[in-house]
Amino acid sequence: MPETPCLSNLGPVDLLDDPTDTRALTQQRFERMTLAGGDGLPDVDIVGLPPGPSWPAVVQTVALLRFRHWFHPWLHQKYGDTYTVRLMPKGRPLIFFTRPEHAKEIFAGDPEIFHAGKGNAILGPVMGEHSLLLQDGAEHKRARKLLMPAFNGQALRSYQEMITEIARDEVAHWPDGQQFRSHDRMNVLTLEVILRVVFGVTDEQRLAALRPRVNRTVNVSPAVLLVWSIPALHRIGPWKAAVENQVELDELMYAEIRERRTAPDLAERTDVLSRLIREGEETGDRLTDTELRDQLVTLLLAGHETTATALAWALYELGRHPELMRRTQAAAEAADADGDAWLDAVMKESLRLHPVIPMVVRTLMKPQTIGGIDIPRGATVGPSILIAHRRPDNYDDPATFDPERFLGHNPPTNTWIPFGGGVRRCIGAGFSLMEGVAVLREVFRAVDVTASETDEPQVRNITSVPRFGARITVTPR
Ligand code: HEM
Repeated sequence: MPETPCLSNLGPVDLLDDPTDTRALTQQRFERMTLAGGDGLPDVDIVGLPPGPSWPAVVQTVALLRFRHWFHPWLHQKYGDTYTVRLMPKGRPLIFFTRPEHAKEIFAGDPEIFHAGKGNAILGPVMGEHSLLLQDGAEHKRARKLLMPAFNGQALRSYQEMITEIARDEVAHWPDGQQFRSHDRMNVLTLEVILRVVFGVTDEQRLAALRPRVNRTVNVSPAVLLVWSIPALHRIGPWKAAVENQVELDELMYAEIRERRTAPDLAERTDVLSRLIREGEETGDRLTDTELRDQLVTLLLAGHETTATALAWALYELGRHPELMRRTQAAAEAADADGDAWLDAVMKESLRLHPVIPMVVRTLMKPQTIGGIDIPRGATVGPSILIAHRRPDNYDDPATFDPERFLGHNPPTNTWIPFGGGVRRCIGAGFSLMEGVAVLREVFRAVDVTASETDEPQVRNITSVPRFGARITVTPR
């Protein structure tokens, strides 16, 4: 397995921001983001670190990446609240913490020391070097500051109406009395939301061109990304298809960005892309076309299937609990603050019981002490979201779906962490909860939902999704 590309070795952007030759821009990204080489961090000795399996690193890596729903609970039961796994390529330790006070120490850690971007380097060829997910330190701070206003409360309220319309239209097309995979339909819905609300694309022709290319980008497999650094592969098989898809997607995105910069209604537009363009111009810190493209692809990849999965689990759980479904229907009908509070609690409980992202990690740039344990530079640490959400001392009867837990109060700090925490906490957390409430409202106003078949989580790239698609059957009310 090749080493992760070393983003910190990249020089300053020397690209003239001329998007007329978008293929060249795409190619330049591939070259910059696939530099093979180490990450400059030392090998790490595991002596003195919390216990963990002595299996070869390759076995532990596969167990963590492919079988995490079994592996985490097993590690927790065998080794206790803090455990160490060793990962490819160098057998470096990844230390997991499951107690809230330890999650707090990690999330509150100095961002100059607790780096998150390194762990996402594999996404470089697709997301690009400016991506919020890939940056650390001052660059991350700047990008976050530019993006934040598009996700504040006022901005979120302005997206609601369009999301409601998209959801209403989607539900109106569901088959009556026939079982279907709610995860597939939620994916279609959240993609539409991203394209219209985040990119602000409304032209039907461009939407039709974007949809399949975006889908192929979301579905690109880690196996393809892992060996992207071998240019010869770009001319064959799945790599050729992925490269061509990126070239085509970039062409469409740069065209959209270029047009938007000069759109006569730019000042009134509420979509995220228009806000980002305006924000840069107002503060004098203008985002280049490549920066805009990288952030938009990041929002797309981070915000589309994640929200769809949380929604699909919510539909599945409500479909299995008729009394909770009736209560959700009443909340949807009420469409007031109390009703929305219940819908919000349903989303939160869905994310507790079925966390979409099972863990978040930070790589240490300097030695640190966490939970009283001295951890060397180069080690990676992170809270296990999977275990945090299932600890009986955090939640009574943790295996039961019970939205009441979140009604009218927040759970104790750092026991509910589906969006991570600290300066890296998911920038779209408020967006996805707002979207979830709007979608649940439209679904439960229109239909009764039942889920007769059981489902379970399955690993899909970095997320966990319902193995059987969270199948449901709906009938009009
Ligand atoms: C239920 C839906 C979602 C879940 C479960 C989720 C989860 C996460 C998690 C766990 C992280 C890492 C946080 C950390 O390292 O501490 C993250 C980061 C991020 N998410 Fe989300 N997310 C969701 C929806 C969204 C949406 C809707 C968007 C945007 C439209 C989005 C954009 C991002 C971005 C840009 C980051 C990187 C933040 C940074 O590094 O500063 N996410 N998300």
